[in-house]
Amino acid sequence: EVTPDLQLRSPVVAFLGHVDHGKTTLLDAIRHTRVAAGEAGGITQHIGAYTIHHGGKSITFIDTPGHEAFTAMRARGASITDIVVLVVAADDGAMPQTIEAIDHARAANVPIIVAINKIDAPGANPLRVKTQLQERGLAPEEFGGETIFCEVSALKGKGIDHLLEMILLQAEVLELRALFDGPAVGRVIEAQMETGRGPTASILVQKGTLRPGDVVLCGPYWGRVRALINDLGKTVREAGPSTPVKVTGLSGLPSPGEELLVESDERRVRQIAEERLALLKRPRQEVGPKVTLENLFAAIAEGQRKTLHLVLKADTQGSIEALVGQLEKIPSKKVELSVIHSAAGPVTESDILLAKASEGIVIGFNVKTDSSAAAAAKREGVQIKLFSVIYELVDQVRDAMAGLLE
Ligand code: GTP
Ligand code: NA
Ligand code: MG
Repeated sequence: EVTPDLQLRSPVVAFLGHVDHGKTTLLDAIRHTRVAAGEAGGITQHIGAYTIHHGGKSITFIDTPGHEAFTAMRARGASITDIVVLVVAADDGAMPQTIEAIDHARAANVPIIVAINKIDAPGANPLRVKTQLQERGLAPEEFGGETIFCEVSALKGKGIDHLLEMILLQAEVLELRALFDGPAVGRVIEAQMETGRGPTASILVQKGTLRPGDVVLCGPYWGRVRALINDLGKTVREAGPSTPVKVTGLSGLPSPGEELLVESDERRVRQIAEERLALLKRPRQEVGPKVTLENLFAAIAEGQRKTLHLVLKADTQGSIEALVGQLEKIPSKKVELSVIHSAAGPVTESDILLAKASEGIVIGFNVKTDSSAAAAAKREGVQIKLFSVIYELVDQVRDAMAGLLE
């Protein structure tokens, strides 16, 4: 159902993939295309996101360092990406972080476009990449699947236009709309202190229009927008949905993922910000995990939970397969089971964030938790359950799903 006030907005795209598969080079190649096309004036300033124009349409790219950042945003309740471009090097093929990226994008329910990069490299084997990804449920059209694959060389600038066209095609299917009028709502991409500017925050506007003079609340900070600076470093008078913009005039540095809201009552905004800041300064009480195997069923009774989201880590790929096989056999009545990510190896911070973003639990079999993951679990309120006997693990999950652990 489309209200007349909702207008089409540009897609917001993130590049994910294994280390050194060419995400940054690809983003550079895309940016270069724009500069070469004479559509950019001046020097591009890094604000963590930028908009490019192609064939009369726009695409906003978020420059995240990896899927951890992508999921960290989601763990804070922010979902800002419409499309994920999964970058896979044609010479290297699908690697552990490629698989992780797929699981992170899936858990976020974001459509994936595959960019097979480095097709110029010796040993490039795009067909092998397609076969590997098909095994992970991303089948190209030529194999009877529905996933868009683009073969590119970021280094040689090959296939870039086609990739941009496929992104725009996917965006058309998604019919992304937003309210352009009214007070702005946005999310912080990053924030930093800048000499002569004070605290600045890169904001992705999600709805409404942001303007200088607007009174904004952003986490525990507030302010009257002094200036809006776009991704080319130019001062602009407004920023609408899907536009990244740098905001000056805030009272402090908000965290990535924090919401920014325009409000009319300056006194009230200041008061809310001060209250939030005071709360932050109080010594933090330890809050236990929100979702646990033990309280799972109680949460359902309140009508909140229908799926148990699990991140599964084990000592070997063989253990993972055995575990998934056993867990899949558990009958689901009130609770569905969804293994959002499984891999061999210790429990990492990325696993914690992934579980947190889906309100799930991390389960380990014959593995340890690395120290940053243990800290993250405490901070984010995520339960980690470690087992060393398969049937105990499976029994506990079964009992949790039946409400027998309470
Ligand atoms: P991280 O951010 O560290 O995960 O890496 P990345 O995915 O951003 O990869 P990056 O762009 O840094 O590229 C890694 C290396 O691959 C660099 O040496 C690039 O020059 C090279 N590279 C990137 N794209 C291509 C390509 O299309 N062909 C070839 N031959 N090399 C490429
Ligand atoms: Na790199
Ligand atoms: Mg990079």
